[in-house]
Amino acid sequence: MCYAIPGKVEKIENNTVTVDYFGEKRKAHNELSRIAIGDYIYAQGGFVVSKISPSEAQTILSVWKETFFQLQEVDLKLSRLQLNDKNTDKKLFGILDKASQSRELSRQELLSLLELKDKPKIELFFKTANFLRQKYHKNSCCVHGIIEISNYCCRGCQYCGISYHNKKLKRYRMAKDEILQAAKEAVEVYGFKSLVLQSGEDPGYSIEELTDIVKQIKEKFPALIFISFGEIGVEGLEKLYQAGARGLLMRFETSNPQLYQKVHPEMSLENRLLHLRKAYAMGYLILTGGLIGLPGQSSEDILNDLFLAKELRAEMYSFGPFIPHPATPFSNHKPVPAEEVIKVLALARIMGDNNAKILVTSALETLSREAAKNSLLAGANSLMLNVTPLSYRPFYSIYPDRAHQSEDISAQIESTVSLLRSLGRAPTDLEAV
Ligand code: 5AD
Repeated sequence: MCYAIPGKVEKIENNTVTVDYFGEKRKAHNELSRIAIGDYIYAQGGFVVSKISPSEAQTILSVWKETFFQLQEVDLKLSRLQLNDKNTDKKLFGILDKASQSRELSRQELLSLLELKDKPKIELFFKTANFLRQKYHKNSCCVHGIIEISNYCCRGCQYCGISYHNKKLKRYRMAKDEILQAAKEAVEVYGFKSLVLQSGEDPGYSIEELTDIVKQIKEKFPALIFISFGEIGVEGLEKLYQAGARGLLMRFETSNPQLYQKVHPEMSLENRLLHLRKAYAMGYLILTGGLIGLPGQSSEDILNDLFLAKELRAEMYSFGPFIPHPATPFSNHKPVPAEEVIKVLALARIMGDNNAKILVTSALETLSREAAKNSLLAGANSLMLNVTPLSYRPFYSIYPDRAHQSEDISAQIESTVSLLRSLGRAPTDLEAV
């Protein structure tokens, strides 16, 4: 979104460019033709997204210049870690000290973090995760936009408010022109550099229609495109990659096969994992994770979910709470407290791949107004804003009362930018060289 800094290309080696941001070097993969040393570009998720004119870049950079270093200082201050063995529980001190040195924790140690009950101990756990976030990613934070293009769904996931269980829901399917218009607005008016296109599993769009939409967005409105259309088949994934999609958002929901079967009676975990593995092999960035608080789910299950996300080489971990929807078979369950979900994000930061981003989901924000801030201070470094046209948003009701449901894009951007600035975060979403 508008919270983005252009970088200057310093070096080109095959498809990899080195980009300079006020003296800091980052690497990005380039698929655009005609990129030369000295050009100014925007990059997201490791990809060069677009080139901009030197005059435009310099205007933007002059605004950022001072802020860039001020933000780094704020972040450094907020992520400082002082573990003290005098007034910390000995066992916890040992675990967090080891984690802060990026040493591997045992399963038992990881589980003990997930099961912490005492507030000050949980605080220390979150601070350690925040320290590691700063260590691996500095103050970078990425912000994606999501367009929910259809709420039709042929699946019967027991928890989901747009599944076929919800007979009364008004269904919508955006036409190609409406989707292109929403993408245009997100990219050209609001400056988003990456877009997620999401829908229920909707056979109402053919793969050809979806590829055409992705192709046209890529041609007209440069952005990194993630797809999230459910289990569209390996061939579908291939066609969409060829059309220009570069990321797949698909949660495996739970790594426990019995629980998976219980909550998705007509689906199989194997098929879901097959999509994720094949997509990674094709070159897609993988955004995946699961639901926290499913009925019957244990801490062991959640730890296994984190290991699975790591094994799947997730570029971004997407873990959020299950929130009961009244029109589903799981309507009578209770959601977990927000803090339990933040523990999972913090644990992902401690045990996950160092380069992985960790997303604050809207479902988590729905549980608590403070959740975005608290998560960003506990290891998370990624946000997703809803850029679906306002008139459709109430109908994409995967769970009730979604956070930001009726906020227009500029209001969401305003509050996000002010939150990120208050925490010293900047939008240089690339790996350091
Ligand atoms: N609560 C929270 N998240 C949900 N999702 C579906 N239903 C719910 C719910 N009731 C999530 C699923 C899916 C994503 C698009 O939405 O994890 O992968």
